[in-house]
Amino acid sequence: MGQFCFVTAGESHGKGLVAIVEGMVAGLPVSEEEIARDLKRRQAGYGRSSRMDIEQDTAELISGIRHGTTIGSPISLLIWNRVWEDWQETMSIAPVDKEVEPVTSPRPGHADLAGVIKYGTGDIRPILERASARETAARVAVGAIARRFLEELSMAVHSHTVSIGNCCVKQKKPVDWRQVENSPVRCADAEAEKAMMAAIDEAKAEGDTLGGAFELIATGVPVGLGSHVQWNRRLDGRIAQAIMSINAVKGVEIGAGFSLGNMKGSQAQDIIEPSSEGTPFLWRRATNQAGGIEGGISNGQPVVVRAAVKPIATLGRPLPSVDLHTGKTTEAHYERSDICIVPAAGVIGEAMLAIVLTNAMLEKFGGDHLKETLANYHNYIGSVSS
Ligand SMILES: Cc1cc2nc3c(=O)[nH]c(=O)nc-3n(C[C@H](O)[C@H](O)[C@H](O)COP(=O)(O)O)c2cc1C
Repeated sequence: MGQFCFVTAGESHGKGLVAIVEGMVAGLPVSEEEIARDLKRRQAGYGRSSRMDIEQDTAELISGIRHGTTIGSPISLLIWNRVWEDWQETMSIAPVDKEVEPVTSPRPGHADLAGVIKYGTGDIRPILERASARETAARVAVGAIARRFLEELSMAVHSHTVSIGNCCVKQKKPVDWRQVENSPVRCADAEAEKAMMAAIDEAKAEGDTLGGAFELIATGVPVGLGSHVQWNRRLDGRIAQAIMSINAVKGVEIGAGFSLGNMKGSQAQDIIEPSSEGTPFLWRRATNQAGGIEGGISNGQPVVVRAAVKPIATLGRPLPSVDLHTGKTTEAHYERSDICIVPAAGVIGEAMLAIVLTNAMLEKFGGDHLKETLANYHNYIGSVSS
């Protein structure tokens, strides 16, 4: 754990989700409204289930903030689950008189089978409740606090959808972020957006699901976050772990990533050139195939991360499975489910990237109050600029 860290608690259909955040400096303005904005962005996206209409998440700040500003103590927050009302018996904290029907047919592609064997619960319900991506709402709330911190240091983190099924973005960068925010699939390429929505409709009609890929771009990242000196200090490794931890993410690449493997060495590097006059730094790069990180250290270029998202494993037309109690073949358990979550996964990716970058910024610039962090930051930027 670094200076800035967090834990979450809560089940998908339990009372709510909790996050405890440790290590944020004092003096950072944080509001429930700003957190709610990101929670809303996570819930949007063409292809989500009807649960998104029910929840309308907001986070209640419980501690660590006074008069709208962080005070340096742990921040805790609470997101109530609106569905709890209908699940009070199934998810009751106290023992219940009546027998609650167990879930016994594991869904392939979920923690169901491995979890029930590992934890010996007999019922899959306790496993699926915590394995559910509902937990990522708490991460997005924490990410909103991290984003606020990064904004004070002139940094921003964005995401956009680059593919859904076999519909891919053709538009070249720079991405129009306003268009992304207005797109139902978080895609700035109007033609690809149309094709993606049609593909989601088609998958839904067939009782199927779709995956895809999202891209994260962090701007304003200074030279020098992370380090080459130890494996677990490498910024690329820390980002990969955080993004891979998002439910359904099955691949992560930084910069040109996997495609670098098909290039010659002479094509794959970002040529170093003298910077033009009037810019703060002495050197610039002709390209950004490294995605802003070389040798585990940020190099001052935007940090670019892509993630592959698998198609949702809970299908309207369930896959074959077995009943763990009878040993007979049956259909996999079905629970209200999304068709495509790539746009939402991008918003969660923003949160996880913001959290890693916040941790790395605090590691580099330290401070107990934002003013101290800013002074350290400006001193360093001054010392590495021309
Ligand atoms: C925002 C979001 C929403 C998700 N919604 C569902 C869902 O409705 N149904 C489902 O089966 N999986 C859903 N998933 C994916 C599962 O949580 C994930 O595939 C499962 O926990 C197994 O983990 P793994 O795919 O990382 O191995 C969602 C993932 C994300 C990021």
